[in-house]
Amino acid sequence: MLKTKKTVGDTTWFSQDRFGMFIHWGLYSLPARHEWIRQYEEISDEDYEKYFRHFDPDLYEPELWAQAAAKAGMKYFVVTTKHHEGFCLWDSKHTDYKATNAPVGRDLLRPMVDAFRKNGLRTGFYHSLIDWHHPDFVIDDMHSQRNHPDRAKMNEGRDQKRYAEYLHNQVRELLTEFGKVDILWFDFSYPPGKCGRDMKWIGKGCDDWQSEKLLKMVRELAPNIILNDRLDLSEGWDVITPEQYQPMSWVRINGEPVVWEACQTFSGAWGYHRDESSWKSIDQLVQMLVDSVSKGGNLLLNVGPTGRGEFDARALDRLEGMGRWMKYHSRSIYGCTQAPEGFEAPQDCRYTYNPETKRLYVHVFAWPFVHLHLKGLAGKVEYAQLLNDASEIKMEASEWFINQMNEQTGGRMKDTLTLTLPVQKPDVTVPVIELFLK
Ligand code: GLC
Repeated sequence: MLKTKKTVGDTTWFSQDRFGMFIHWGLYSLPARHEWIRQYEEISDEDYEKYFRHFDPDLYEPELWAQAAAKAGMKYFVVTTKHHEGFCLWDSKHTDYKATNAPVGRDLLRPMVDAFRKNGLRTGFYHSLIDWHHPDFVIDDMHSQRNHPDRAKMNEGRDQKRYAEYLHNQVRELLTEFGKVDILWFDFSYPPGKCGRDMKWIGKGCDDWQSEKLLKMVRELAPNIILNDRLDLSEGWDVITPEQYQPMSWVRINGEPVVWEACQTFSGAWGYHRDESSWKSIDQLVQMLVDSVSKGGNLLLNVGPTGRGEFDARALDRLEGMGRWMKYHSRSIYGCTQAPEGFEAPQDCRYTYNPETKRLYVHVFAWPFVHLHLKGLAGKVEYAQLLNDASEIKMEASEWFINQMNEQTGGRMKDTLTLTLPVQKPDVTVPVIELFLK
């Protein structure tokens, strides 16, 4: 199997579990038009206050959230403890800008962690490095007040070092007050001049977060925690996090395969977006999960709960659809990874492989007519079945057919195993053929 770059954090369970839930929830759930709304519309502190004054998710029941995630087949969750807006879901002693002071009047994070753990999911905390509310966060070219005529004056007295101290203090709280945290997901660095633009870009990176010091503290408090790659440090991260695209192959850094996780949304926003309509189908979402595992990666799929504290009907529909597929096909995901060298999946298919059970899974994205030709697998498969109903898939094709194929392909059928499939596609989102290798 492909050897990946050594990690400091414990990624063993992570690379087995493969599938997690991202949760983006905060004041931005009320404007309900993207979690960056404050930045997009350059909303001032005063104007944004109305969302704080009205944040009262009275229907919030984290047990329902955890059950929906577990039923979808998700094995871990990562929740925004604080997003770029600066609002904190937990009762942090370092700020008043938190759920306990909003109308909801209680810590929202602790019951969530308890509920997800009770339903068997591991815990991950997303924490924004960016904070458009904090009085010491120096206004830069990304800030919600970046175009304010008094930007320079507003920056007077702001002390980025004091903000970094606040950042570190809150991370300490998160790592010491909620039991074992399995993943820490910082977001994100935008160092000066590294945004691919020729203009002078006043951004923030490792010096502004004091990332080296933060990394040291994280490793002291939670040595085995999985740390993502957004602190603007070339080392110290455990997982690479491609976002809103599917990598073409196993992600490599400096040519070395790494542990990676694609983070994706159901629609076009991370936070609840009422009017955004580019919702992915269940087919697409299942294919993205399979595609990630077929390339040795994970999928972290995001839900943006509403300002009432619920997953909306569109999100529940997708989660239930993925759960229906995972009920029959999870063993082609859990414990699986990229197929061994030389096993090249046919067109419109993805392979996943379980090295423990030595089973190869053929995920068929487009159901072919009758035959499926598996290059390099002749003589290597002991038995084949459809995973959804364990019905046998015949492996032999007639002599006549093989000769025909060889004639037509100039002998390219050598080492090819031909499967004979039912004409009709099985009634599942993505049919999977389980091959028991010899
Ligand atoms: C981007 C977005 C941020 C979101 C994150 C999730 O950084 O700016 O809103 O939380 O992606 O990976």
